[in-house]
Amino acid sequence: MAFLLYGLTIVAQLTAAHAASTAGAALCRNLPGDPGFPTQVDWNALNASVNGRLVAVTPSAKACGALQCTEAQWTSGLFRETIAGAMNQYNWEQDYAASPPGLCLQNGTTCSQGMVPVYAVNATSAADIQAGVKFASAHNLRVAIKATGHDYLGRSTAKGSLLLWTQYFKNVTFTDSFVVGGVNQGSAVTVGSGVGLKAAYSAAKDVGKIIVGGTAATVAPAGGYTQGAGHSALAPIFGLAVDNALEYQVVIASGELVTLNAVSNPDLFWAIRGGGAGSWGVIISATFKTYPTYQLTIHQVILAMNSIDLTVAVMAAHAKHIFDWDGVRAGQYYYLTNNQDGTTNLAMWTYFSNLTDTEATAQMAPLLTDATALGATVFGETTVTGFPNDILTFSAPNDVPTFSADDAAGVNLVMGSRLIPATAYLNTSNVGAAYKTLVEGGAQVILGLLVAGGKVSENVNISSAVNPKWRTAKTHVIVVNNWDDTATSAEIEAFKHKITDEHVPALAKLTGESDSASYTNEADAREPNWKTTFYGVNYPRLLTVKAAYDPNDLFIVPTGVGSDRWDAYGVCRV
Ligand SMILES: Cc1cc2nc3c(=O)[nH]c(=O)nc-3n(C[C@H](O)[C@H](O)[C@H](O)COP(=O)(O)OP(=O)(O)OC[C@H]3O[C@@H](n4cnc5c(N)ncnc54)[C@H](O)[C@@H]3O)c2cc1C
Ligand SMILES: *[C@@H]1O[C@H](CO)[C@@H](O)[C@H](O)[C@H]1NC(C)=O
Ligand SMILES: *[C@@H]1O[C@H](CO)[C@@H](O)[C@H](O)[C@H]1NC(C)=O
Ligand SMILES: *[C@@H]1O[C@H](CO)[C@@H](O)[C@H](O)[C@H]1NC(C)=O
Ligand SMILES: *[C@@H]1O[C@H](CO)[C@@H](O)[C@H](O)[C@H]1NC(C)=O
Ligand SMILES: *[C@@H]1O[C@H](CO)[C@@H](O)[C@H](O)[C@H]1NC(C)=O
Ligand SMILES: *[C@@H]1O[C@H](CO)[C@@H](O)[C@H](O)[C@H]1NC(C)=O
Ligand SMILES: *[C@@H]1O[C@H](CO)[C@@H](O)[C@H](O)[C@H]1NC(C)=O
Repeated sequence: MAFLLYGLTIVAQLTAAHAASTAGAALCRNLPGDPGFPTQVDWNALNASVNGRLVAVTPSAKACGALQCTEAQWTSGLFRETIAGAMNQYNWEQDYAASPPGLCLQNGTTCSQGMVPVYAVNATSAADIQAGVKFASAHNLRVAIKATGHDYLGRSTAKGSLLLWTQYFKNVTFTDSFVVGGVNQGSAVTVGSGVGLKAAYSAAKDVGKIIVGGTAATVAPAGGYTQGAGHSALAPIFGLAVDNALEYQVVIASGELVTLNAVSNPDLFWAIRGGGAGSWGVIISATFKTYPTYQLTIHQVILAMNSIDLTVAVMAAHAKHIFDWDGVRAGQYYYLTNNQDGTTNLAMWTYFSNLTDTEATAQMAPLLTDATALGATVFGETTVTGFPNDILTFSAPNDVPTFSADDAAGVNLVMGSRLIPATAYLNTSNVGAAYKTLVEGGAQVILGLLVAGGKVSENVNISSAVNPKWRTAKTHVIVVNNWDDTATSAEIEAFKHKITDEHVPALAKLTGESDSASYTNEADAREPNWKTTFYGVNYPRLLTVKAAYDPNDLFIVPTGVGSDRWDAYGVCRV
């Protein structure tokens, strides 16, 4: 009898705890198999409320098995974004930390769901997203948000989650006068969060406009891109992509559809612009300033170096000349490929607005003359002229870019990065020394991006959550490691450790700062001091905005604001 009473007491307490948990204070999200996970009847009800747009999600390798994908489809960003469970870097679909690892590899004979969501709302209306958000809150589910699956930190997939999938928000509309709070902001475009850059660029071209965007065909400007900052080869002229954002339509954690701009929810408007992708709500669409189109010349060239000493000397020469193009506000991608045999190649694409071929070539001559004198072999020098947005979507980093409507995908890849301040380039031997460490340390490719300075610096007084280190940066430098599916778990760990413990510290040292910064969208997911490194001085205010709009942490992504309140899966509070 006593035992029975005792038992009843325990049951009553558990029930009370569960009741509290569904109110939002739960220790863990409900995963498949948990008693609180929605029943089939619940899922059917959600499906009905989204007009049958609920889809069961499988990892890309399994989906591709069923679809009999070609290799060309497997490696296509455009194709992969049509698969709910696919990530571009498909290592993020794998649960390496599980024991045994939960893997689903291309051509594999077994398949684990890994980090891939369970169901997705394949939304075409804000109401679909609102239904998904309310369902996830009511059932205490882990949520993931994805537009394209480009994310380099695995933030658009989550184990055991309900995916809010915005790939099919494809609207693009232009206006000559976009009004915010009664003030005409001029020419602008509103893009749905599933619109890729190439599609946005093409639509803009048809109306004689350009959009400030990146060198990627399929990245979504109204997805993660501008929540990170959004860099562009045109940024030295027009600022970061996010500096050009005028408004967002967002479904917040309460399920409400809200407008964010300078006068409507200005605190969330501040946070979503640079405060990190995936932490604020589900973006339905975003509005950006547009500019009249004009002619741009891209200068391309490759330098070949036959020794580490020559590589160091050429990178120091590049540092010496990096200010050469400030007067014309050029942007540049300069990618050093390590052939792992003592030789390297530096491929450079430099974007000259309103310059002729001859003028562009003259701008590059001092650097090329120095590099030649040092002993580098210069080849493939050429120029291409066209509209800026056409020129922004080539596929890099192969020798000579081919203008592309797609992005390469279906690979295993991790990266690490630093925003390198302009002051770091004043000591060219420091720059050379950093490259020596990286190349000798086996870094596969070092992507240099001259996408700051100029207007990016001049925009210092824009009030947004963009890491202020963007305003003093000259470049964003990324080190990439990739592997194929034959790599063992130990080898994969070793690649990741190289990035975190060797390559990134070499870049951090080059910054000369104790609080150096990294661009959240192209960074190491294992960045140890991510609060400072990714968000800098903005972190405390970001936490306050997060508490106001997402008090129950519905939108949690690895390295996102508030994510340290959760375990690595974002499933249980810590
Ligand atoms: C080939 C390639 C080229 C790139 N080039 C550039 C470049 O030139 N400049 C640059 O700045 N960056 C570039 N990037 C990085 C890019 O900015 C990030 O990968 C960015 O996160 C992609 O956003 P997405 O929405 O397309 O990707 P996704 O993987 O779909 O999402 C990325 C993040 O945004 C969140 N998110 C997606 N959709 C929404 C939504 N509707 N509402 C709320 N959150 C959402 C996700 O949860 C995730 O956290 C490039 C990436 C690739 C793969
Ligand atoms: C949702 O409903 C549609 C239409 O009835 C159906 O085709 C689809 O399979 C359902 N989705 C799930 C996950 O059951
Ligand atoms: C999978 O099979 C395809 C077709 O045979 C092949 O092209 C591809 O390289 C294979 N991938 C791996 C990782 O084995
Ligand atoms: C998602 O919806 C779009 C638009 O209706 C449709 O074309 C696509 O086939 C759907 N995808 C899946 C996986 O259901
Ligand atoms: C897209 O545009 C159509 C036509 O104007 C409109 O009916 C629809 O609501 C828009 N969709 C979204 C998600 O804004
Ligand atoms: C390019 O030149 C045109 C014509 O002079 C001018 O209107 C435009 O603002 C210039 N664009 C840039 C980016 O310099
Ligand atoms: C430049 O860096 C080198 C080390 O790479 C250092 O020896 C030298 O003192 C630095 N020069 C200045 C002026 O700081
Ligand atoms: C930014 O604001 C400060 C303080 O008002 C001002 O001194 C500075 O000139 C401004 N900078 C720019 C680039 O407008």
